[in-house]
Amino acid sequence: MRLIVRPAERALRGRYRPPGDKSVSHRAAILGGLAAGETEIRGFLDSADTRATLDAMRQLGADVEESGGVIRLRGGSLRAPRGALDLGNSGTGIRLLTGALAGHPALRGERIELVGDESLSRRPMARIIEPLVAMGARIDSRAGCAPLLVEPAALSGRRHALNIASAQVKSAVLLAGLFAEGETVVVEPGVSRDHTERMLPAFGATLHDGAPGVAVRGGQALSGARIEVPGDLSSAAFALAAGALVDGSGIELDGVGLNPTRSGFVDILRTMGATIGIEGDQTDGGEPLGRLSVTGGALTGIDIAPEQVPPAIDEFPLIMALAAAAGGATRIRGASELRVKESDRIAVMCRELARLGVEVVELDDGAIVTGGPVHGGEVDSHGDHRVAMSLAVLALVAKAPVAIDNAEWIRTSYPGFVDDMTALGAQMDWE
Ligand code: S3P
Repeated sequence: MRLIVRPAERALRGRYRPPGDKSVSHRAAILGGLAAGETEIRGFLDSADTRATLDAMRQLGADVEESGGVIRLRGGSLRAPRGALDLGNSGTGIRLLTGALAGHPALRGERIELVGDESLSRRPMARIIEPLVAMGARIDSRAGCAPLLVEPAALSGRRHALNIASAQVKSAVLLAGLFAEGETVVVEPGVSRDHTERMLPAFGATLHDGAPGVAVRGGQALSGARIEVPGDLSSAAFALAAGALVDGSGIELDGVGLNPTRSGFVDILRTMGATIGIEGDQTDGGEPLGRLSVTGGALTGIDIAPEQVPPAIDEFPLIMALAAAAGGATRIRGASELRVKESDRIAVMCRELARLGVEVVELDDGAIVTGGPVHGGEVDSHGDHRVAMSLAVLALVAKAPVAIDNAEWIRTSYPGFVDDMTALGAQMDWE
């Protein structure tokens, strides 16, 4: 489907709560399915990705009930699914679930297939297969990619020194560690999001310091928990960016997750010159949250250092879009992980921004984007939800309407995006 976005004719205004956090929702569904007894999840993200994980847990034997926006899962007695588990477009779903199943005692001797869509089937899985196999896991893949065939086996804990800062890899290994003999330690080269570590204690599992990493002991019993999912900062980011770009705007966002391992985008947007207010004094289920506000004004290009990448990893398509409308150049380095996301986000954003007349230089591990006038025209999401939404936000300050092809992929993480933007005063229509 095509999304037509017209240049904003007036300031954007409004206040709302963004949808539930995608990363936290996946983890709540997986841990709720593994844990004995009832888990109650409030604020679960209703999106294609998180539904795929919830369905997978259902197929694995969890009893899932939904009413009035609350999900109740009765887990703890897993059985082999009848068919393959289809994780759709979700890297988090397939990687975390593979880790959780790799050594699950109730599933030993079974063969479980995990599959995904075309994009997911191209993404690297060796990064989880290698550490899990080193623990004793039996996982077959198609040349390091999905489909994955897992034969749950007895695992032994060990120390893993990862060569990328990836919460998906770290979480897959920690979840496997829960069912392994002895201690599993994960050491990362940088700081990745720590939602798994924050949520595990709610389910009764203790983690300990594996300095300089994090450690978990195998054989711990998980029991049901009450999880309140904060609003997703990665979805709130689109409204923040729109508010920062469109002159005179004023937008407030309530209940947004402000986990410091995730909130790098706020710092980057501030450095570009946006005025962002933060009122955050609450913590729910180990996750800090608060209210964000933004007012529109002129942005300037900045240099983004490699260590700023992991805490803002999912916001780089949007940062590149913002850079296209900022004064001067924005240089992004140390971001080669962007090439193995839902699309090759460096190549795709460079190509699509160039189609709107933006000056871009593609680098192996980033890009240089020089701000200037943005033309109208036609662009493509390349099947990537964040590319679609980032281009839609940039289109608000283009000289003429922008048509975004294959924009229906937005449903992956933020089905209400167009409605929320329209409520703020943007003109976006499906064609
Ligand atoms: C996620 C971790 C990140 C992020 C993804 C969600 C998670 O991936 O890009 O959207 O929920 O753990 P990596 O851990 O591979 O960097």
